[in-house]
Amino acid sequence: MSTPDPNRVLIFDTTLRDGEQSPGCSMTQPEKLRVARALAELGVDVIEAGFPAASRGDWEAVREIAREVRGPIIAGLARCNREDIDKAWTAVREAARPRLHVFLATSAIHREHKLNMAKEQIIHTAVEGVKYARNLCADVEFSPEDASRTELEFLREVVEAVIEAGATTINVPDTVGYTVPEEFFEVFDYLKKNVRGADRVVFSVHCHDDLGMAVANSMAAVRGGARQIECTINGIGERAGNCSLEEVVMAMRTREALYGLRTGIDTKRLFPTSRLLSSITGMPIPRNKAVVGENAFAHESGIHQHGMLKHHSTYEIMRPEDVGLSRSHLVLGKHSGRAALRDRIKELGFEISDAELGRVFEEFKALADKKKELFDGDIEALVLRSEAGATGPWHLESLHASSDTAGTANARVGLRHADGRLLSQEATGDGPVDAAFKAIEVATGLVVTLRKFEVRSVTMGEDAQGEAVVTVEHDGRTYRASSVTTDIVESGVRAFLETVNQVEQGRALPGRAERRTSEAAVTASTI
Ligand code: KIV
Ligand code: ZN
Repeated sequence: MSTPDPNRVLIFDTTLRDGEQSPGCSMTQPEKLRVARALAELGVDVIEAGFPAASRGDWEAVREIAREVRGPIIAGLARCNREDIDKAWTAVREAARPRLHVFLATSAIHREHKLNMAKEQIIHTAVEGVKYARNLCADVEFSPEDASRTELEFLREVVEAVIEAGATTINVPDTVGYTVPEEFFEVFDYLKKNVRGADRVVFSVHCHDDLGMAVANSMAAVRGGARQIECTINGIGERAGNCSLEEVVMAMRTREALYGLRTGIDTKRLFPTSRLLSSITGMPIPRNKAVVGENAFAHESGIHQHGMLKHHSTYEIMRPEDVGLSRSHLVLGKHSGRAALRDRIKELGFEISDAELGRVFEEFKALADKKKELFDGDIEALVLRSEAGATGPWHLESLHASSDTAGTANARVGLRHADGRLLSQEATGDGPVDAAFKAIEVATGLVVTLRKFEVRSVTMGEDAQGEAVVTVEHDGRTYRASSVTTDIVESGVRAFLETVNQVEQGRALPGRAERRTSEAAVTASTI
């Protein structure tokens, strides 16, 4: 894809591929589709929807996104062999604008220790892979993996050869987060000036954050001529993560006078998209995270507050509303009507249908009865919960839990099954949450292993809502669910019951072991 406007930088989002493959970030197929839709609304140019050869589940998720999501280009990743490329192509071919993203490592370290291939073999395999992909798809991206540790002259040779073979985008990855801005600028500047055919392709950058420089390195690359940035929401990704989409986009926008570059991102959707991903993966956003962290626009010191009261520009380089973070914290109460709620939801950056609004309004009224004041975080939690859809077959009808300092804890849960059964079960445990989880296991007859139980407050104050994220294992598969209520025991119990529902419905997270076996089964040199 070419960029007719030389100052337009394409945003290639790889949250669903590089982000999703990192520990703690796995998503189910419906969750991936929700994220893909949010990315399309955010205005990304390319969604890398997954790595279809990694597992059957990955292939299906990419195919569904290619079928359902319109707007951005939908890319599928493939190693440089026919099996991978065929799998990626069958997954993306139904997209309105499909892309094949083919990669092969080029650095001496990878050539010797991983691939056991000489330089000539690397060039041959890369060229054959790109030609094969180009026969299937007009839009082919090539990535020389570990490019930042590849001999510059050899990198130029590889890039020239794949352009000749038909690649339309050349992505230069800093796979291990090793480079620094000055050096990476030189790499792009050199390739742009010395590669034959450089003017026929878009140069792209893909940075990891091992030394905390992924955003800075990406900015150096665009200064050197890159016009596509590969990044993820909240910077999730392998090890320390990838370049954070919200940070790199706001860096270009805030320093537009210096860089003269633009993206197609609707920045007001940054905050809601970031919250959506965090609520789906259960991966918290650090309070001090740039652009989307809770403290990113909070001013605590007296001198700063004084300055802010005089003029916001004294201590603020971006406006919170520009990233979709509304200033007002105290919002609605129990006398607020449906129209006020709809306006607030819109201001927070969410679009919901009338039917969804009806559901959210019911829950809003119930919550307003329990809480004096409703904050933006409360409204967000209601919307995100409603978007997640109804669950089942088990529903929580009642919960009584008690504990004392002597260490005794009891819980009684009342459950209703979709088939009409009503069950009540009591259990004792190591704290009320443990007791309630045990009661659910006995009542449903399903025993799971609790792997993680995390609780955080979504707003402030004594009556703040608590979000619980529960991760369990059953039969070697992992299940994760979250719930938000004003009572953290109830949140935990609802999230736990949801994981039991997922087990019953076979809605496990994609398994890492399954992916690794499938990845290892295909060698890199079969083309
Ligand atoms: O980091 C990396 O090198 C990658 C490639 C597959 C683009 O993720
Ligand atoms: Zn990567």
